Amino acid sequence: MQDEVCWFMRKEPAYMQSAKEQCQANLRLLSCRNWLFTSMRSQRTVVAKLEENLLTCSRRKIAQLRKDIPMKAIRINEIGGPEVMQLEEIETPTPQEGEVLIKVAAAGVTQVDLAQRQGTHLTRTRTPMTLGMEVAGTVVALGPGVSTPAEGTRVVSFVEGGYAEYASARATTVIPIPPNLDFVHAATFPVQGIMAYQLLRESARLQPGESVLVYAAAGGVGTLAVQLARLMGAGTVISTASSQNKLDLVRRLGADVAINHNEKNWVELVKEATGDRGTDIILQMVGGRQAEQCLQCLAPFGRMVIYGRVSGLNAQFSDVQIMHKNQTIMGYWFTGWMSSRPDRTVVAARELMQYLATAQLEIIAEHTFPLSEAAEAHRAIAQRKTTGEVVLLV
Ligand SMILES: NC(=O)c1ccc[n+]([C@@H]2O[C@H](COP(=O)([O-])OP(=O)(O)OC[C@H]3O[C@@H](n4cnc5c(N)ncnc54)[C@H](OP(=O)(O)O)[C@@H]3O)[C@@H](O)[C@H]2O)c1
Repeated sequence: MQDEVCWFMRKEPAYMQSAKEQCQANLRLLSCRNWLFTSMRSQRTVVAKLEENLLTCSRRKIAQLRKDIPMKAIRINEIGGPEVMQLEEIETPTPQEGEVLIKVAAAGVTQVDLAQRQGTHLTRTRTPMTLGMEVAGTVVALGPGVSTPAEGTRVVSFVEGGYAEYASARATTVIPIPPNLDFVHAATFPVQGIMAYQLLRESARLQPGESVLVYAAAGGVGTLAVQLARLMGAGTVISTASSQNKLDLVRRLGADVAINHNEKNWVELVKEATGDRGTDIILQMVGGRQAEQCLQCLAPFGRMVIYGRVSGLNAQFSDVQIMHKNQTIMGYWFTGWMSSRPDRTVVAARELMQYLATAQLEIIAEHTFPLSEAAEAHRAIAQRKTTGEVVLLV
């Protein structure tokens, strides 16, 4: 047993050196030590137990003492293609006033991360930076003034710098996850899940029976929006996508009509499916010509929500048409909701958690990559090879 502990001390000298003194008086260490001495365990199990009990505690204390503990993170030092993403060792964040430190198990990858890397995001990309805005993991330390959630709680949160072993988050935005949800499926809930919810509920103000068109619905936000439209009582739900497997997926998730938007007559097909009226609500995120075509599918008094511009192209809309048909085109920006109306974000998170806890909402998370292969994850998204969520395993 002694050999195993010595082996571990050699393996992790940085942790052990600083942790030793502080942890001796700690009850966690005591229980850990008792556990070690009362049974014979394999080296692997001993290390796991030490990490869980002793290092969790020491990390917090060391962080509070402002000593440098390295962690792995995906960083960009300049704007560019996926090749600018580098696995580097940086200092573990120290949870500040009102924050918690999360040991990241899974990090969601979104189009926003790609836009930040390319310097095309709404806000300026300031390098060097760690990418990633949503994570799932375990709370391992509380900053000053924070008493909940307790250390050890499984949570999801919005963060800055989620492609990393540890990330700090505002305690008020950390959401505990139900036992039936694993980290991989939970990871994309904070941004993509809440966005899909708010697009329909807060922006479009979907009323029961109204028809909805989710454009490019096989992606992270789209797969959730199709299901949420159903759960919120929408009438006809129409989804578009660019390939047969994507169309099959959105149909399985609840779309009544699935249309390939690469077909020349796709606008006519939407009109046909709605008795030539068009849909009451449209969720649009490509921009350019596709957004202009979507407007042709909008019913009188309809609302179209623009929440992305993944093509990078501007759309030109006819003000005469909008006026004549009493239509509304509106924008949605997640960060704006988070910063200006955080109370509404909490409402969204609670209702979504209910759907997830009762298994009414399916998170599609078939594309996972190790943290070190984050660049591959970005390439797969850019090549439109993915469906649903894309997750980094940390
Ligand atoms: N407003 C906000 O605060 C906010 C926050 C986060 C994300 N977003 C936006 O939300 C949107 C969806 O994000 P996501 O993570 O769900 O994306 P995603 O999983 O990559 O799905 C997006 C879908 O868009 C289509 N697409 C991708 N690249 C395209 C291109 N260059 N031109 C035309 N179509 C393309 C693809 O569908 P097909 O292959 O079927 O065409 C893809 O399935 C993005 O526009 C993102 O920027 C907005």
